[in-house]
Amino acid sequence: MRTIVAILSFICITVNAQRAIVVFTTGGTGVKGNVTFTQEGKQVRIEGTVENLKPGEHGFHVHEKGDLSAGCASTGAHYNPYKKNHGAPNDAERHVGDLGNVVSEEGVTHIAFTDSVISLTGPHSILGRAVVIHSDRDDLGRGGFTDSLSTGHAGTRVACGIIGTLETGLVLGASSATVPAISLSLLTLGLVIRQFLL
Ligand SMILES: *[C@@H]1O[C@H](CO)[C@@H](O)[C@H](O)[C@H]1NC(C)=O
Repeated sequence: MRTIVAILSFICITVNAQRAIVVFTTGGTGVKGNVTFTQEGKQVRIEGTVENLKPGEHGFHVHEKGDLSAGCASTGAHYNPYKKNHGAPNDAERHVGDLGNVVSEEGVTHIAFTDSVISLTGPHSILGRAVVIHSDRDDLGRGGFTDSLSTGHAGTRVACGIIGTLETGLVLGASSATVPAISLSLLTLGLVIRQFLL
């Protein structure tokens, strides 16, 4: 019976995940929308839709502070706990917050990618910090401008929002209530069977 309990506990652990949401309301530029962050093991899936960005690429970064008291200006610099230079998402030399660019087509920006450096858990969790969308393309540190290695020369901050908790605990992918319910039922069933047989 210990084996059954162990297997059921393992199922619960593997579906353990966390989700967060950023609602873009600040910036005064008419840019609006939201993105969700879903922790899937060591990766985080980022998905959402943003409207009213001008066509083209826009720098998309996690900034260190969830402080919107002066709008996007008070969110601090890119989140950079390891004191590295700015870079592309796939570079070893990057800020934790460096998520590259998002692409707007005719004012609609569909966002869907994964990143394995940011995390919703642990000492360098991005929860409570901010996401900022910039007016211009992030040159990913390669542009040779004075600010390429700090901000990617991505221009002004046109929209931002705080990374807030959406769901914690037992979540599989994007589904919400069903998986935790089933997992808990299975665990309870396992414990009941254990009582009977031991
Ligand atoms: C997030 O955006 C979607 C459309 O992309 C919308 O249906 C949903 O209501 C938004 N959620 C929030 C909390 O703004």
